[in-house]
Amino acid sequence: MTTVDAIPLVRASVGEQELAAVAEVFASGWPAGQGPRGKALEAELATRYGVGGAVALSNCGAALHLALLALGVEPGDEVIVADYTFPAPAHAVRYVGAVPVFADVRADTGTVDPRAVADLIGPRTVGVIAVDTVGLPADYADLKSITDRHGLFLVEDAACAIGATYQGRPAGALAPVACLSFHGRKGITSGEGGALLTADPALAVSARLRASFGIESIFDQARVVGLPISVFTEIGYNYKLSDIAAAILQVQLGRVDELLERRRAVAAHYAELLAGDELLTLPHVPPDRTHAWQSYLVKLAPGVDRAGVAADLRAQGIGCGHGTWACHLQPVYETTRTCPVSADLFAHQLAIPMHAELSTSQVERVADALRGALRANAGPRTRPAENPLVDAPGGAA
Ligand SMILES: Cc1ncc(COP(=O)(O)O)c(C=O)c1O
Repeated sequence: MTTVDAIPLVRASVGEQELAAVAEVFASGWPAGQGPRGKALEAELATRYGVGGAVALSNCGAALHLALLALGVEPGDEVIVADYTFPAPAHAVRYVGAVPVFADVRADTGTVDPRAVADLIGPRTVGVIAVDTVGLPADYADLKSITDRHGLFLVEDAACAIGATYQGRPAGALAPVACLSFHGRKGITSGEGGALLTADPALAVSARLRASFGIESIFDQARVVGLPISVFTEIGYNYKLSDIAAAILQVQLGRVDELLERRRAVAAHYAELLAGDELLTLPHVPPDRTHAWQSYLVKLAPGVDRAGVAADLRAQGIGCGHGTWACHLQPVYETTRTCPVSADLFAHQLAIPMHAELSTSQVERVADALRGALRANAGPRTRPAENPLVDAPGGAA
């Protein structure tokens, strides 16, 4: 029997250039956070996104948490969150003792439906967290006009969206506060990492302080003449990005266009190879925005056994996953709210390999295998009902 190469669902594009940058940090003697590399990265991010402040952080979950603290969210407040996403936004709302209120999404894009947001605004609502779903920006023009009308904050969770655009503007600069992820499955990566971007420099200062236990950069303090003793005025966290990770990200930032171009080519090739298949729906990108293709999600037709398709693909060495989560269905939130569109996407979407290292022949192999698996699993269900909660590996983390 011949063995075929495995095609992983995700693969980070890091190599010699990133290693050389890490070697420089080792030689510098400052591998910890908020040092020269972190500062340089923050300056590059602020310039790239045209924002008043950028804070380099350990991950996007930390960025969301610090954003909500800096925006003054208090226990008992309600924050409307997009439902169809990795649950980091709703978790962040819970970190500050507030209540996540789940808003349903558009069936064609999976991004939060502005009408659902408007309908959920109540006396305790203080803000909205929209998500650029697996790399596709949400409807920020509508969302901004709703939040402005009601005096609410708007946060963009752009964790997956580096390189995407909306009405000509970059994802990450589509709301007054935005959060990025540099996790290994994102468009650019330092393994783990994140950033908070904001139009408001004071908010950035507050977030940076809270990311360092509540005191200024220890690297800076060590350079002040005399013996400065930092004063702790609040309970902060250790959410700093190390200078090792910052150096990797400086290289990766310079590669955004190259890596995104390769993901775009993969997406275009899938679209060509899978077009017209009645057993699936391809991703939809509205004409006013571009996709970062963090994941490539197809929606399987009703009646197709998704677990069966996944098992067939994996048996051929092809990675796949369920897409992302319908947050309101996660037991941890104990909500009675329903989001039928999000639940439907959660039940029927399938993530197939998407990263910048895929070759043309691998893309062709995935498309062939998927077409075959769809046909083999399109009949009446013969397998036990799938459970997305246990089918999680490969979810859009
Ligand atoms: C939309 C979204 N927000 C936030 C996060 C959390 O990112 P991080 O792993 O950097 O904390 C993720 C992770 O996948 C995500 O998909």
